[in-house]
Amino acid sequence: MKVKIDGETREVRTLWMEGQKIRLIDQRRLPHRFEITTLENHKETAKAIKNMVMRGAGAIGVAGGYGIAQAALEAQHMSVKGFETYLFEAAERLRKTRPTAANLFHAIDRCMEASISGSVHERVRAIISEADSVAEDDLSASRRIGEYGCDLIDDGFRILTHCNAGALAFIDYGTALSPIRFAHMRGKQVFVFVDETRPRCQGARLTAWELEQEGIPYAVIVDNAAGYYMRQGEIDMVIVGADRVAANGDVANKIGTYEKAVVAKENRIPFYVAAPRMTFDLSCRNGDFIEIEERDPEEVRSMWGLNEEGKPSKVLISEEKTNIRNPAFDVTPAEFISGFITEVGILRPPYSDSIYEAFGSKEG
Ligand code: MRU
Repeated sequence: MKVKIDGETREVRTLWMEGQKIRLIDQRRLPHRFEITTLENHKETAKAIKNMVMRGAGAIGVAGGYGIAQAALEAQHMSVKGFETYLFEAAERLRKTRPTAANLFHAIDRCMEASISGSVHERVRAIISEADSVAEDDLSASRRIGEYGCDLIDDGFRILTHCNAGALAFIDYGTALSPIRFAHMRGKQVFVFVDETRPRCQGARLTAWELEQEGIPYAVIVDNAAGYYMRQGEIDMVIVGADRVAANGDVANKIGTYEKAVVAKENRIPFYVAAPRMTFDLSCRNGDFIEIEERDPEEVRSMWGLNEEGKPSKVLISEEKTNIRNPAFDVTPAEFISGFITEVGILRPPYSDSIYEAFGSKEG
């Protein structure tokens, strides 16, 4: 993605590996500060996934793959047995960080499968190469999603998106924002309504920042305003990302997505989910089987921002003792989804057929 830093435009990826280290954009600091940070080992990577230094299903997946690569390098002087034990524990640690995003589990499985035979040295090489191909797959899928999705966008469209399914949620381009990027690059006029996305405000902080960098017109709205604009006839289409898609097309995505889908259907507005193959979980029959992450109540109780002196600070909204629930995701049933924008094209209902045709076999 293009980032303007001190008057200069730089091309950066969300995260990458340098030797044994992961380098990444610290997404907790955006939009107020652009900072590249370093994760020295797989334990730091696991912690960073949990604490959302990077977030978004694609980025979490790539970080999980590189986390396994870090663990392999950490254990490269051990015996085969010691190496296997170390890697197994590292995979468990990384899997426990965030339960909903399918990409994390696919990426870890791919890297673990790459390590099952050969000398320790050969296994380390195989894991690093697999982690790199997870990142490359993520990048090429995002680009293709942009190309396919762009054709759904007419000149002058006003598009609603929820959370951040942009370059920051992947290695580059993103999913929901990728068709919008391509439409803009190809000269179509687009306007983006950006849901603020409480509690962590990925829309207001990250999506708005990405659109600003690209010069794409947008407005941030509070989460409760989307229905108002839909009913006013000011929204032509909704595009969101996904954290896990079940075999029947039910979608887990950022909390609040379900409500937007219901209101879109009520107002006859097309509702698209943009997601790569890595987000589809064909072993999951329907949305009832998707684990929904429940996060720290502190995220709801308080908010982070800059104070009047321009210093990062936290303010308490509710009383300390206030009882809080904080689910990070919800499930949108397949019946509310007009289509999936994927790297192999647009999938249409009935999804139990189109998803299997695209990504699996009914028997498998
Ligand atoms: O909690 P987050 O910020 O990781 O949640 C991100 C989302 O819900 C995105 O919409 C989703 O990952 C799709 S884009 C990869």
